Amino acid sequence: MVRLINQLLLASFAPSITGLYAGLPEDRGSRDVKPHPIKHVGSSRDMFLAGDWRSDMLRMVNSQRAMRSLPALIANDLLNAAAQNHSNYQYSVQTMTHQDPAGSLGDRITATGLRWTNAGENVAWNQKTPAEAMDSWVNSPHHLANILGNFNVAGFGEQGLYWTQIFALIS
Ligand SMILES: *[C@@H]1O[C@H](CO)[C@@H](O)[C@H](O)[C@H]1NC(C)=O
Repeated sequence: MVRLINQLLLASFAPSITGLYAGLPEDRGSRDVKPHPIKHVGSSRDMFLAGDWRSDMLRMVNSQRAMRSLPALIANDLLNAAAQNHSNYQYSVQTMTHQDPAGSLGDRITATGLRWTNAGENVAWNQKTPAEAMDSWVNSPHHLANILGNFNVAGFGEQGLYWTQIFALIS
């Protein structure tokens, strides 16, 4: 079985300026990017994400897909957990990466027990809200291509402004 993986990194280094370099070909693949250290304000950073931010992100993803007549993705709890784990890990090492102690993206999805044939991962750092993270990805052709990819499920994670989107085609 052929399995396809597309992984992309994107950083916004200035708090109020969205800097993109994900449109560049060298940003495809698993090159690790070390962002500047982040100053955290207190410990309540995630409070504004309380509630149903994943539904908001899924709605934004599906709106991009609907504009191109692509089928909607379905939220998947296992992928949400995997994406959250990956955001937690990136936060713990303060580095945007597609690698994780649990393995590559493929390893991490396989470990959930899902049977998958196609997978993609977008990560981003320093966007302040789900809408801002989505906006950064949508304006980056390669990340947008993941959002519009041949997938049927998605999961999202965030920790300390490290955002993760995992997409998969599962049977
Ligand atoms: C998330 O991480 C925890 C702790 O390492 C692990 O037990 C769990 O299996 C992981 N979940 C997923 C879906 O990867």
